[in-house]
Parts: sequence; C-alpha cells; structure tokens
Amino acid sequence: MRLVVCGGAGFIGSTFVGLRVREHGDDVTVLDKLTYAGRLENLRDVADEIRFVEGAIEDPAAVAEAVAGADAIVNFAAETHVDRSIAEPFAFSVTNGLGTHVLLEAARERDLRYVQVSTDEVYGSIESGSFTESSPLAPSSPYSATKTGADLVVCSYFHTYGLPTLVCRGSNNYGPRQYPEKLIPLMVLNALAGDHLPVYGDGRNVRNWLFVEDFGRGIGHVLAHGKPGEVYNCGGPDECENIEVVKRILALTGSDQSLIEYVTDRPGHDRRYSLSAAKLEALGWRARTRFEEGLALTVDWYRDNSWWWDPIRSGAYREYYERHYGRALKEG
Ligand code: NAD
Ligand code: TYD
Repeated sequence: MRLVVCGGAGFIGSTFVGLRVREHGDDVTVLDKLTYAGRLENLRDVADEIRFVEGAIEDPAAVAEAVAGADAIVNFAAETHVDRSIAEPFAFSVTNGLGTHVLLEAARERDLRYVQVSTDEVYGSIESGSFTESSPLAPSSPYSATKTGADLVVCSYFHTYGLPTLVCRGSNNYGPRQYPEKLIPLMVLNALAGDHLPVYGDGRNVRNWLFVEDFGRGIGHVLAHGKPGEVYNCGGPDECENIEVVKRILALTGSDQSLIEYVTDRPGHDRRYSLSAAKLEALGWRARTRFEEGLALTVDWYRDNSWWWDPIRSGAYREYYERHYGRALKEG
C-alpha cells in the first residue's frame, strides 16, 4: 500500500511506520511538523526506505505534497499531552481540530481511505466496567475535547460524502521512544537519575495499558479489515493504578520508595479509563503483550538508549519540567 503517515516521527507513529515497512513492505510517506515531540531519530531504522515531508497537517500545501500518489492516510499527528493542553490549549484546536479537517479535505478530493488515530479519553472517565464504541462521548480535558471534535468530523465525512473513514481509539500506550513528559518514561528516567517521582493526587487513578506495537498492529488491522464509517476501540490487556505502576518501575530500576512524592493533582483528572476491544478482537486483532512483560522491556530500553533521551533531558524539556513541576530536573 502507498500510505501517508501523518505524525509518523512521534512515539506511536514511528512504531507504526516500522511495522508497515518491515512486516508489510508498504510504500510510506511521513508528513510531520517535527514539534518538540517529533524526532527524525525515531525513524532512523527506516530512514532509507521512506519519504519524509516536513510540514504541518493544517497546511494544505504540505498535505498536497505528501498525499500525491497515495492510497490511504493514517493520521497520528496531534498535540498529545493532557498537562500541556491545560496550560496552553490553543495549539490543540489548531492541530487536532483544524489539521484533521485539512487532511479530510485532501482525502475527499482524491477518494483516499482515511484512518484517524484516536483515544479512549474521548469517552471520559468510567467508575466500573468498560467503554464500548457506542458509549457516549464525554471528554474532560482540552486534549480529549479536541480529539473528540476531530473524531466527529471524521465520521461526518463518511455520512456526508461517503468517504471511507475509520477511527481507531487506543488506551494509554507505553514502550520505547515515548517522550518523557508521559507517566511511564518520566518515572523511569527520574528513577534512573535518583530524582523524585511526582505522583498526582492520591495515585489511585487507573489507566488501561497498551504496548505500543500492539496498538500499531491494531491500527494496521483497522486499516486493512475495518468497515468504512466504523469506530474500533483498541484497549490494552491490563489496568493498573498509577501508584502501582510507579512501584513496579522502582522495583525494575532497583530504586527506593522514598523517591515517591505526592504532588498537587491535575485539574479535572479523569479517575479511570477502560476500553472494551471486543469489536476489534472480532476482526482478528489481539494484544500480545501483557503489562508486566512490556514494562520490563520498556525499562530496559530506556536504560540502554541514553543516546535517545540525553538530548531531550538536556534541552527544552528541562524548561517544561521546571515550569510544570516547579522544580529543576536532576542531572544524571
Ligand atoms: P507524540 O506526541 O509522541 O507524537 C505526535 C507527532 O505528531 C509528533 O511527531 C509531532 O511532531 C507530530 N505533530 C504534532 N503536531 C503536528 C502538526 N500540526 N502537523 C504535523 N505533525 C504534527 O504522540 P503519540 O503518543 O505518538 O500519539 C499519536 C496519536 O495517537 C495521537 O493522535 C494521540 O492522540 C493518539 N493516542 C495516543 C495515546 C498515548 O497513550 N500516547 C493513546 C491513544 C491514542
Ligand atoms: P499521562 O501519561 O499524562 O497520560 P494520560 O493523562 O493521557 O492518561 O498520565 C497517565 C496517568 O499518570 C494520569 O493518571 C496522570 C498520572 N501522572 C502522574 O501521576 N504524574 C505525572 O508526572 C504524570 C505526567 C502523569
């Protein structure tokens, strides 16, 4: 397939590109703006086998250059961090909202298959049980609200124009090359440096963890086998309270519990996410990686790949960290 992967220089997008090139021999073009979260290093293993266009999804000229000759668009490009969406929400509307709309127009003009990568956060928080694709949408943060708006516009292009659109909603991902603003890599790198581990609130919020390669394969499954106009949830096999995640990371890095520091809670913090993946499983997808195995593999990867995270931790991330956590990141 000739695929345009938007946001392919980020964490999940680069994993997806690797899988498509290695396992499917696809002809891939990556369109990416290379924000703080997008890095060419993430694509270095496939650099000679793909075409890269640097540009924003909200820029119709960049999109036109990227989609020339394509069969399908898979859109990962987004502003993705909830805390940043609380501090500076506007960029989220531009990329997640307007950007998605520009891509849909490009797909409509050329009748391309279109897959929108989305999130369980569009459903909001759930006390017990799991969200299905027909659960009401009730996003809480500017991040999830802009992702929800994008999903709705995507579905409207199927209903209105008959464009073959698909939406794949993943639960919390983890794995190699995740930017360290997110819970797991932040805690791993801080633990390795002997720095504090900032746990929000009482630490008992629950997330449904999905190993990044499983999500990449799930999105590929939706691209190949999904029914146009449909939404598919892609939930991980295990749920875990944040404090339990942090304690497991302490054990895997051989660090002391005294590093844990309870800090002020995130405003509007969703208590629990949980997705039912039954619909995608009925199409033949299964998560292969249990949390215990994937977390150990992820900790090993960060321990062995300081070349990847050293430039991040010594750059603009330091300023973000100080602004957000009110203290400097420890060297080391
Ligand atoms: P990420 O922040 O690691 O990467 C985002 C990528 O998009 C980066 O390469 C960035 O440069 C690029 N980008 C940002 N704005 C852009 C723009 N305007 N134009 C072009 N490129 C732009 O994100 P991620 O964690 O890999 O998430 C990828 C997608 O998966 C997102 O749509 C996100 O909402 C969704 N998702 C993420 C998770 C998760 O746990 N990380 C879970 C479910 C769904
Ligand atoms: P995060 O990785 O930001 O993903 P999301 O908000 O999309 O679920 O956060 C995962 C969970 O970890 C969430 O409940 C917030 C919590 N968290 C902390 O307790 N401390 C932190 O420093 C961060 C970044 C997150």
